[in-house]
Amino acid sequence: MTPSPDDRYEPPSSFVDQANVSDPGIYEEFERSWPDCWERAADLLDWHEEYDRVLDEGDAPFYEWFSGGKLNASYNCLDRHIEAGRKTHAALKWEGKRRETRTYTYQDLYGEVNEFAAALRELGVGTDDIVTIYLPMVPELPIAMLACARIGAPHSVVFAGFSADALATRMDASDSEYLVTCDGYYRRGNAFNQKSKADNALMTLDRSVTTVVVDRLGEDLDHSLDTDQYDYGDLVLAHAGATVSPVARDAEDMLFLMYTSGTTGQPKGVTHSTGGYLAQAAWTARAVLDIKPEDTYWCSADIGWITGHSYTVYGPLALGTTTVIYEGTPDYPDRSRLWEIVERNAVDVLYTAPTAVRAFMKWGEEYPAGHDLSSLRLLGTVGEPINPRAWKWFREHIGGGDCPVVDTWWQTETGGMMITTLPGIGTMKPGSAGPPLPGIGARVVDEDGAEIDPGETGYLVVDRPWPGMFRTLYGDDERYRSEYWDAFSTDDEWVYFSGDGATVDSEGYITVLGRIDDVINVSGHRLGTMEIESAIVGVEGVAEAAVVGGDGGTNDTAVYAYVSTDHHHDPNEELRERITANVERAIGPFARPEQVVFTPELPKTRSGKIMRRLLENIANHEPLGDTSTLRNPEVVGEIEATERDQ
Ligand code: WT7
Repeated sequence: MTPSPDDRYEPPSSFVDQANVSDPGIYEEFERSWPDCWERAADLLDWHEEYDRVLDEGDAPFYEWFSGGKLNASYNCLDRHIEAGRKTHAALKWEGKRRETRTYTYQDLYGEVNEFAAALRELGVGTDDIVTIYLPMVPELPIAMLACARIGAPHSVVFAGFSADALATRMDASDSEYLVTCDGYYRRGNAFNQKSKADNALMTLDRSVTTVVVDRLGEDLDHSLDTDQYDYGDLVLAHAGATVSPVARDAEDMLFLMYTSGTTGQPKGVTHSTGGYLAQAAWTARAVLDIKPEDTYWCSADIGWITGHSYTVYGPLALGTTTVIYEGTPDYPDRSRLWEIVERNAVDVLYTAPTAVRAFMKWGEEYPAGHDLSSLRLLGTVGEPINPRAWKWFREHIGGGDCPVVDTWWQTETGGMMITTLPGIGTMKPGSAGPPLPGIGARVVDEDGAEIDPGETGYLVVDRPWPGMFRTLYGDDERYRSEYWDAFSTDDEWVYFSGDGATVDSEGYITVLGRIDDVINVSGHRLGTMEIESAIVGVEGVAEAAVVGGDGGTNDTAVYAYVSTDHHHDPNEELRERITANVERAIGPFARPEQVVFTPELPKTRSGKIMRRLLENIANHEPLGDTSTLRNPEVVGEIEATERDQ
């Protein structure tokens, strides 16, 4: 994983010559003028009222950025581009699962966002009411987000693959009384019912919820509307031509809430601000993804996660570019699907996940080779480390051998990119994300918070605030402080802890190694092992469970569950199926364990703590090291034997 020192790539001069940011002096300049340097990001936005201060540290770690300023995110993503004479420019290009395509110009998008905003208002949505959105990758998803932003109602998008239970937990935790969902969507060609999941979630909530249903499947799936349920198409039609003036929001007002997994069973409601978040999303989309208004840009992530929020919707639209939304998967109906979309739309910039790159690599270069990908100018990845081999393959077979590739490190909590090379400036080293972006105080430290020497391994922290940072965990300031700030802060310095381990080289390039807490990353989906464990121990017959991330030999992390049964139950296929089904019910199919390994006992320390590290080593076929601190060392051999037999 660690880059070899002579593996270096420079961006081609043809790229540098046209890059949005190409002056290496920017690092120095941001250092010199910090935090005022961030005005450059704020300047990319239109403000209803200018801010008084760039940064207010008075109530740290509850920082405020651009305080006193007022703005509206939907105005910044729509109205101002129309006012600039770009109303006929394509804002959104949608590629449906059945090869349907839809293009929305900025005028079209503005029109429908306004109509839906008017409808939401009429349904009673007021400023600061949280609207939950539970939609797959259809145009109505960004439309609903922007409609909420327009009326000052924070959205909480819940990934469509989550189960009814997971949706209910999130709606309950955010006291959300509004839901936007759909009848269903196509999964590998078949109609799949989403509304029944939403209805099941609503049944468990103890308050009434007003629901809007997008009819995605038409005649392919019947659905009916209950009281308090409205058809999206009818609502928009009833408000045809309506306009809603964008609500001026304080820079610090919440733009949205996004639930993410942590180390306890309870998901965390990460809250993002309007001003700082949008400024960093737009700034990084411009500086790192090099987005120009005339580009066709494609981020393949689902909008149900933070990547899609920042780099499919807010960043690209704030810059007035054309953003592609793809509803399907990369291998349906065939493995050329993405390359066909790139070719047909002449995509300029592609931002995707290492897990996708590894899949492309496995399928073989004949799929991209069959398409003209010469429109691509820049490639990017996010979500997990990309190993040098995959990085090079991506550059070679998708990027035509000379596209720069940016490996971007960031998190739901950071709101926008934090560590990566700037493609118009920096040397790229495959396997390393790069230096912190200008103005970003990312460092790798030892457990005492002292900076480590190059080549050593430590903890990835951020020692200065940044505009796109989350402001708190919804309704839980205490958890915000204890989970992120307590570990490394000192009497005179607040330090944010990312939860990741990392190394750094002599040139300050950071290689992020992955989570050091009980969070795993499965195909770009962040999962708390505790959440999965609590779904497993909820199954009758299970005594104890421990979940770790295991590498099935493919470099892709999968969920491995180690389970002991109570003395009334035998470990058998039937129990295994009930376990899997319960995980799907509690979280969603994407959290399904790849392996359920039964063991008479879980390995425990003398104080009774489950040794997850050890299980992780077993799952990854790594050396186990010292097992003498175990209370029950004999169990290790048994687990290894069971796993071999499976
Ligand atoms: C975790 C955050 C940010 C959008 C996608 C995931 C891992 C992210 C990289 C990278 C190595 C990475 C980290 C991080 N991660 N980018 N370039 N190299 N690891 O957002 O669900 O909040 O997950 O993803 O472990 O903490 P998320």
